[in-house]
Order: sequence, then structure tokens, then C-alpha cells
Amino acid sequence: MNYRHIYHAGNFADCMKHALLVSLLHSFLRKPSAFMVLDTHAGIGRYDLQSEEAEKTGEWREGIGLLAEEAPSSPLAPWLALVRQAGGPRFYPGSPLLAACMLRAQDQLICCEKHPDDKRALYRLFAQTPNVSVHERDAYEALRALLPPKTARRGLILLDPPFEEPGEFSRLADALATIRARFANAVVALWYPIKHRTPVRAFQTAMAGTGQRNILVTELLMRPPHDPDRLNGSGLMVINPPYGFAENAQAILARLKTVLGAHDYETSMLVPE
Ligand SMILES: C[S@@+](CC[C@H](N)C(=O)[O-])C[C@H]1O[C@@H](n2cnc3c(N)ncnc32)[C@H](O)[C@@H]1O
Repeated sequence: MNYRHIYHAGNFADCMKHALLVSLLHSFLRKPSAFMVLDTHAGIGRYDLQSEEAEKTGEWREGIGLLAEEAPSSPLAPWLALVRQAGGPRFYPGSPLLAACMLRAQDQLICCEKHPDDKRALYRLFAQTPNVSVHERDAYEALRALLPPKTARRGLILLDPPFEEPGEFSRLADALATIRARFANAVVALWYPIKHRTPVRAFQTAMAGTGQRNILVTELLMRPPHDPDRLNGSGLMVINPPYGFAENAQAILARLKTVLGAHDYETSMLVPE
């Protein structure tokens, strides 16, 4: 458990993931019925971008640091409004804080974080927040323990592992099988790094081979994915994407490409409905 997200908070990959996450959550707000969010790799929820750790890499400067001037009409605006509401851009909100900001009285957020220090920080952040629970537990074990949800028939599951150990891609494929067996209509968002194309292609082939229908791939490439030692891009695979999400994702990624000076982006159906 060496990975600390503070070194990477607010970087291009976070911007992509978080802008898309907010778009997904907006889709749930269209109906009054309750939904649950399960954030399996939650992190600490809020990151001080002026901390020594964040400044050490300065990754946020090539991400959220370039997005201060977005117009209210930008497809990034709904996410950036929440960033400001949560204390950003200096105190940059991670996935659980963004989700918590969007819950209504009937909705619920469950966060899992395996690192004890990070879990404590997250627990403190949400100590006074209703409808949010924080667990110190393994993400993959949590899927088996917590699904199907007791309080809602609709839900979003975000899996955002650090990819610090080998086998993360195949753990994600196994996780999808667990989710399908327990909560088949869940919207599932799986984050993955793009260093080199080969492992990403193998992952996509494995996911397509699970029998799961309705899989959307969204990717943002900062550079061509040739150097396997660099994070050249990132992807968010979305299973059961809500109506209209693919078009919104396209607009979000096109805008991120322009403002961040990215190389390319993609949204495509890996498996149709
Ligand atoms: C990429 S960070 C999460 C960032 C967060 N989702 C966000 O967008 O703000 C990954 C987190 O997963 C935690 N983690 C690593 N392995 C885990 C596991 N097996 N179960 C739960 N959490 C884990 C790490 O401690 C780290 O805080």
C-alpha cells in the first residue's frame, strides 16, 4: 500500500475521471427514486494542492491548474462548479466528495478505502455528512459483502484502483463478474491507466468476452501511448451508461483535449446494448 493519491490529485486523469463522474451522477438525478454510490477505492476525499506532496510532482498544474478560466457554457462547468463548492481549486475534491455533494436525502454513498491513514482522513471529512458511510476494507471483498444494496434499486459503482500491483486489470474483470451476479443493472465506471496499448487491448478483449452488454469506452490520451513507463493517457470504461451520457462524455473529452493540449480522445461502444 505505497500509493498515495495526493501526488497525483488534480492531474489530467483526475480531471477526466471526475468530470465524467459528475456527468454520470447528474443522470441519476433525473428520477426521484433513491440511488446508491459505491466508491470502492475512495482515497481521502479532498487534496490540498499546495501541500508538499502535491507540489513535489506538480501534476495538478497540467490538469485542474489549466481549467480556471472555463466559461459557464463549458461541458466541464457542472464539475468545476462542484470543485469550487468543495473548496477548490486549492482543496481539490476527489470522487467521494464530488458524489457526496450530489446526494439527495434519499440517496446513499458508501466509500471503501484500504489504507488506514486515508480511511481515517476520509472518515473525518464525512463525520458530519448524512447518508455517507466509510469502510476500511478491500474493494473487491466489499463488492461481495455490500451488493446488492439494501436501500436502492439504482446505483453507480466506481472502481478506481491505483494499479500499483500486477494483476489489477484481471481483478477489474473479476469484479465485473461479481457485480453482474449481484447488481446487474448497476452503472459501473472502471478507471484504467494507458501507458502502452497492449495491456489495454488485452483488458478490453477480456471485458468484451465476459458476456456483458452495453460497454462504453472513454479515453483521453496526452501523448501517443508508446512509452510504457509513463502515464500517457487514461480511460474510463462505463458499463450500462445512462441515456445521453456518451454524447456528454464526447463533449467533455473534446473540451479537455483542447484546454489540456491533449493528443487525442475517444468514445466508442466496446459492446453494444
Ligand atoms: C487512485 S486512488 C483513488 C482516488 C479517488 N477514487 C478519487 O478519484 O478521488 C486509489 C485509492 O485506493 C486505495 N486502495 C488501494 N488498494 C485498495 C483496495 N484493494 N481496496 C480499497 N482501496 C484500495 C489507495 O489507498 C488509494 O487511496
